[in-house]
Amino acid sequence: MNITYVAARMADFHGIPVIDDSDSIQICGDKINMYSHLIKKNVALPKTVFLSKNDLSVERVSQLFDTLGTPLIVKEPSTSFSLRVEKVTDIAGFFRVARRFIKMSDWIVVQQYVESTYDWRVGVLGGKLLYACKYTIPSVTFKIQASVNGHIVYCGVESVPADGVPPHVIQLGIDAANAIGNGLYGCGHQEQQRRCPGHRGKRQPFARKRGRRILPGRIRTDRQPSLCKLGKYHFLT
Ligand SMILES: Nc1ncnc2c1ncn2[C@@H]1O[C@H](COP(=O)(O)OP(=O)(O)O)[C@@H](O)[C@H]1O
Ligand SMILES: [Mg+2]
Repeated sequence: MNITYVAARMADFHGIPVIDDSDSIQICGDKINMYSHLIKKNVALPKTVFLSKNDLSVERVSQLFDTLGTPLIVKEPSTSFSLRVEKVTDIAGFFRVARRFIKMSDWIVVQQYVESTYDWRVGVLGGKLLYACKYTIPSVTFKIQASVNGHIVYCGVESVPADGVPPHVIQLGIDAANAIGNGLYGCGHQEQQRRCPGHRGKRQPFARKRGRRILPGRIRTDRQPSLCKLGKYHFLT
């Protein structure tokens, strides 16, 4: 039972105005539901697959590594605060995590890994920008909060004034929020930085095919590496 949902519903029931509405909490409290809304509205996501408990086989998982790449991100749909989000690098690791998550849910989320040193967090209220900040991912983990050797590590937080946020970052946050509803949202958005062919610091143009962005995983990475931005991905969290 999601306690925030209960509080919002109770307030609603008693006629108290609620800006973090219970319908949105219900959608965002389940990543399968939330991603389905984002996909329906064409909001950019990393390649994402919903895997049912009955579909957990070595063949299927090895196919996922082939199509989404290595490593993979595995999520239990009701996760929050990065609690049940793991990075796996092989089939054995995948099953270790999946067996744990499948005890809590009939479905798990499998995602392409987006390498990034920070998350954008865009706060949106009623379809308008409320705040923006950068969460710097600790070097010992890939997510903004993690338990490492029994210690909790947290991301660094840097608030960014609205005029310092790239307009496309604001727009992506607003589009993601609008795909869910008209309440209060914190939209996580990762800008992928990965090694790719090209000169250091030079921005690669997006490759397009029939008007669609070609996913970065398909871009060859076998020449002299340098860090450049290839794509923008964002997630409502
Ligand atoms: N596909 C991904 N690739 C790389 N990092 C990811 C990916 N998905 C999530 N993360 C990292 O893990 C964190 C937690 O994931 P998220 O989906 O927001 O789950 P939660 O709802 O538990 O916070 C994100 O803030 C991000 O730093
Ligand atoms: Mg999150």
